Amino acid sequence: MNWKVQLFKLNYDQREADAVADVIRSGWLTMGERTVEFEREFATYLGENTKAAAVANGTAALHLALLVLEIGVGDEVIVPAQTFVADINAVMLVGAKPVMADCTSFEDWNMDPADIERKITAKTKAVMIVHYAGVPCDMDAIVALCARHDLKLIEDCAHAPGARYKGRCVGTFGDIGCWSFFTNKNLSVGEGGMVTTRSDELDRALRYLRSHGMTTLTLDRHKGRAVSYDVVRPGLNYRIDEMRAALGLVQLAKLDGANAARKRIVDAYRRELGGLARVSLPFPDREDRVCSSHIFPILLAEGIERLKIVESLKNEGIQSSIHYPAIHHFSAYSGMELGSTPIADEVARRELTLPLYPDMTEADVRVVVSSLRNALEKVS
Ligand SMILES: Cc1ncc(COP(=O)(O)O)c(C=O)c1O
Repeated sequence: MNWKVQLFKLNYDQREADAVADVIRSGWLTMGERTVEFEREFATYLGENTKAAAVANGTAALHLALLVLEIGVGDEVIVPAQTFVADINAVMLVGAKPVMADCTSFEDWNMDPADIERKITAKTKAVMIVHYAGVPCDMDAIVALCARHDLKLIEDCAHAPGARYKGRCVGTFGDIGCWSFFTNKNLSVGEGGMVTTRSDELDRALRYLRSHGMTTLTLDRHKGRAVSYDVVRPGLNYRIDEMRAALGLVQLAKLDGANAARKRIVDAYRRELGGLARVSLPFPDREDRVCSSHIFPILLAEGIERLKIVESLKNEGIQSSIHYPAIHHFSAYSGMELGSTPIADEVARRELTLPLYPDMTEADVRVVVSSLRNALEKVS
């Protein structure tokens, strides 16, 4: 498909190519010095005395977070209904029960602190939040309710590198922050992730779990710093490799600039779409939060046949997407009682994601909006 405006484009140039070439020339491909540097730079970027362990992907980060917090059979974890299935899958795969909380409102699709509180039972062990689209959740309320009910807090920051709540980076409020560096993310390495915490103890446990529970790395033995290793707990192989860590370093250096470029596109969309009937825009700007503008979601009016809009946009060369289909519509979850979430259900039916990436131009925005206007005229 030859898109006129595609949903997402990599923010890559010669620097990424050089970084990977350097790794190849270095003779060492698995977790090593670039990984250590990427972890150090990422932790410094987050501040708050954060420690960071790079992992294979964002789902691995979520899985590790649940494992180190000892969440398992018999436990409940409150998750957002408005999210990618990875959160619910990870909870299911440690044997715990996901309980979904609703969006706050049709303007604020992030988890509603009041609904989180309503869904707490004697079995609730943790709350897993998602800063959807890179918009920080209401952290004051969520941190307070977790403290009040003695619940662990996992922040899924897959959409939110660079997002800040009251000046502080998301991912530093909870017990553990989980990050995805998948291709279409703000910080993109293909497949990669990070798990972050301010706790030395959790950091140590996360590092063991990520690499077979082993006390030394293959690199340590290669460098002659160690001859053998012990295994102190059962672990997995969720390591990242040096190519991706090198890409991560370049992408991290570009992150703030790329997020600012994304924000300019979001502002242009807001100007162009303002007043367009039958479309509403969630997440108005707020002074207490800086968003990472990961995606640009809109809400179509009730009754509009979304697939016809998608098809019409496609015919004009505009790629669009849906973030996200409702979890209970997936075969794996269709029969499960996951909790009542009427706003999220409605958002799942009516949401449409328009193209957004740092290199997009305001002219591209006008093309997308004009195609959307045409599409809306054609549907009832
Ligand atoms: C909200 C959310 N959580 C978790 C993930 C999983 O990340 P990964 O694809 O790196 O496993 C994603 C990725 O798309 C996501 O959007």
